[in-house]
Amino acid sequence: MAPTTAARTRAAFLLPIFLLAVVAWPGAAAAAAAQAGGYRVVSVARAGGVLSARLQLAGGGARAELGPDVQSLSLTASLETDSRLHVRITDADHQRWEVPQDIIPRNPPHHFSLAASTTNTSPRSRVLSAATSDLTFTLHTSPFFRFTVSRRSSGDVLFDTSPHLVFKDKYLELTTALPGATASLYGLGEHTKRTFRLQRNDTFTLWNADIAASNLDLNLYGSHPFYLDVRSGAGAGASHGVLLLNSNGMDIEYGGSYLTYKVIGGVLDFYFFAGQTPLDVVDQYTQLIGRPAPMPYWSFGFHQCRYGYKNLADLEGVVAGYAKARIPLEVMWTDIDYMDAFKDFTLDPVNFPAGPMRRFVDRLHQNGQKYVVILDPGINVNETYGTFIRGMQQDVFLKWNNSNYLGKVWPGYVYFPDFLNPRAATFWAKEISLFRRTLPVDGLWIDMNEISNFIDPPTLNTIDDPPYRINNSGVHRPLNNKTVPASAVHYGGVREYDAHNLYGFLEARATHGALIADTGRRPFVLSRSTFVGSGRYTAHWTGDNAATWDDLRYSINTMLSFGLFGIPMVGADICGFSGNTTEELCSRWIQLGAFYPFSRDHSAIGTIRRELYLWETVARSARKALGLRYRLLPYIYTLMHEAHTTGAPMARPLFFSYPKDVNTYGVDRQFLLGRGVLVSPVLKPGATAVDAYFPAGRWFNLFDYSLTVASVTGKRVTLPAPVDTVNVHVAGGNILPMQRPAVTTSRSRQNVFHLVVALGEDGEADGELFLDDGESPEMGGEHGKWALVRFTCGTGPGGGVTVKSHVVHDSYGPSRKLVVGKVVFLGLRSPATKGELAVFVNGVKAANSTTGRAAALGYRRGGGVAQVTGLSLPI
Ligand code: NOJ
Repeated sequence: MAPTTAARTRAAFLLPIFLLAVVAWPGAAAAAAAQAGGYRVVSVARAGGVLSARLQLAGGGARAELGPDVQSLSLTASLETDSRLHVRITDADHQRWEVPQDIIPRNPPHHFSLAASTTNTSPRSRVLSAATSDLTFTLHTSPFFRFTVSRRSSGDVLFDTSPHLVFKDKYLELTTALPGATASLYGLGEHTKRTFRLQRNDTFTLWNADIAASNLDLNLYGSHPFYLDVRSGAGAGASHGVLLLNSNGMDIEYGGSYLTYKVIGGVLDFYFFAGQTPLDVVDQYTQLIGRPAPMPYWSFGFHQCRYGYKNLADLEGVVAGYAKARIPLEVMWTDIDYMDAFKDFTLDPVNFPAGPMRRFVDRLHQNGQKYVVILDPGINVNETYGTFIRGMQQDVFLKWNNSNYLGKVWPGYVYFPDFLNPRAATFWAKEISLFRRTLPVDGLWIDMNEISNFIDPPTLNTIDDPPYRINNSGVHRPLNNKTVPASAVHYGGVREYDAHNLYGFLEARATHGALIADTGRRPFVLSRSTFVGSGRYTAHWTGDNAATWDDLRYSINTMLSFGLFGIPMVGADICGFSGNTTEELCSRWIQLGAFYPFSRDHSAIGTIRRELYLWETVARSARKALGLRYRLLPYIYTLMHEAHTTGAPMARPLFFSYPKDVNTYGVDRQFLLGRGVLVSPVLKPGATAVDAYFPAGRWFNLFDYSLTVASVTGKRVTLPAPVDTVNVHVAGGNILPMQRPAVTTSRSRQNVFHLVVALGEDGEADGELFLDDGESPEMGGEHGKWALVRFTCGTGPGGGVTVKSHVVHDSYGPSRKLVVGKVVFLGLRSPATKGELAVFVNGVKAANSTTGRAAALGYRRGGGVAQVTGLSLPI
């Protein structure tokens, strides 16, 4: 059993190195004990609410093979808000690379706003705390420097560093102790993992790479050095978040009782988010890194894509296939096939000729549908190609050895726009705008932006191949593997070595800006590569998965992780990208994928086609699952607003709604959409039933409204799941705004609203509906035109059930014409009788069950269902 922190701290003062190594930090242990290392605190000061200290290398340093140690470090700690602590350690005498301010604004840098105070708890430590903050920072000054972060309300130690701190030019190492089994960690991506909860004895490597997502445990397309830590035991559910704001390559080793960061550059810039609910943590995290971008309403429709569509007739056939099968299709996509010799901003004159393509897109638009195409960053080196010529004239490309770096991707030799250069964003926007004059695409898909390169640049020096090789590609490949050289140079002299992980972020920002400027509407951008804060600009898909049952299952883990990273609009390639899918797999995949926030079917060239109408069972599954998705669109879009304003993921792990239920911490074969819609997909071949976990409460099936579970404790239930059926339930206590579905979102939006009122044990429920035009750049906010309606349900004066709507905000004119046509009550106590159900709009009684025309009251399956139809209630 691990010793208590107090005991550990006491012990550390007596026998520092030995006990720290053997007892306190078991994993990093041996290394720490065997080698010298660490810093001594030589001075401490406080100015305002900032605690600062100067640290001096103690002894001979550590890991000499990785280069000389930095002699003198400076540390600052500040409580920046009630819920955020910032701890930064850097070289005291030399400036080092840091994530630029415009990527994650920290204005002013190292700013604090709390009136914090410091106390000397002992001669050996200084504590920074503030009356309003639950986080405290303790600087331990003797015998070696280390620090702890604690939760004041519970005394829990959240972060507890080892004195074995290593700080070199190209290697930083810091270890924190964790309490082992009582801490559940999530995040640290992007990787495909077997489980959503991080498993001990695993290394998380961050270095953006074009590695297929079907590979487990390897560094993939994005870097997010952020984790959520949910504690069990007393006070179960108390959660906090930790960000290491650093864009350099790194390995993060998680040993269960410790976490070690091994970083090849930058500074140790930690942010701690106090929580204490998981929702609080993502709120606080996205307050720092930026709130998720609002996505247009249409982007919540269903998307169809494929790498390998042959020509325009092929695209037209797919659109017609969906219409004929009466499966909703909102967005048609085209991969690199549309380009002339794979050159961005061109059209293949034979297979995708400009005139007919334009008419195709116009027809899609007339039909309420949208069109999205791919762009890759590499610009073909070709003197007859306008985009290349303009890029050269404006000198926007990434440099290496004093000339443009020459890489190779689909079109052959390419130069890459250097998006750190402001001129590159201007160039990119201009090209997008020019292209949109030919083809008015509605959104853009930016791929290969890790940057992917088909050649391995040579490793010339220790920048290309630093002394500590992170576990790139799972076999410690040099940094340059399949990307641009780390020794390439960006605008302002910034090394690719430092900025590598930022490329996807920067390209997404430029693309988002270009679309807003050109369309005046809310942009839709889908990026493969991401970094901390990318959610401000882009959606994400999980990359090149395979058409396997494993990848079907793992897609939930990645989707939930991106919710934590502030990128809620996320989904995986439905039916699987590489390899040949099967009818059964595709059927199960659309049943799950219909509830991904971003729902797109995509596949690789040369594999069998997988449009949803191609098999009868898949088509049936699609009509059913997408039918429910489209009914839920008002709810889903309201979740987008919640994500945009509070950072709340749209698809959430169960513990977000049930943090006290420790059984939910390991659940990753089910997830919640928002607070109360539980999706329990089939993830195994041949299965016709699914084992699902239901947290305490009442759960109603959203297809037939039956009461599936009512329990005061969490319960495992085996649910029937015939091949065309997915289980989706709503928790008692929720009111879901819905709309009758149609084949496009714009048509769905014209239908009357329905409310599904799922009553909790206490007979109460509530919910929200956000409305706007779905395409204005701003969503909500001060200047936007929008409405927010809150619904509550409880016992009315005569003991009946009363649902009330209350318009919280309304600057959106059309909302006044919207009506609720049906209210469905689930979980009524006794058979509903006339007059029992009442609906109030903004305090005025608008209807009861007798005034609804054609009120159809029923009582089904003992679940207490009643519905009032034929209503025409203004929202
Ligand atoms: C890689 C992407 O991940 C994939 O989705 C796309 O189809 C291919 N590039 C071709 O553009």
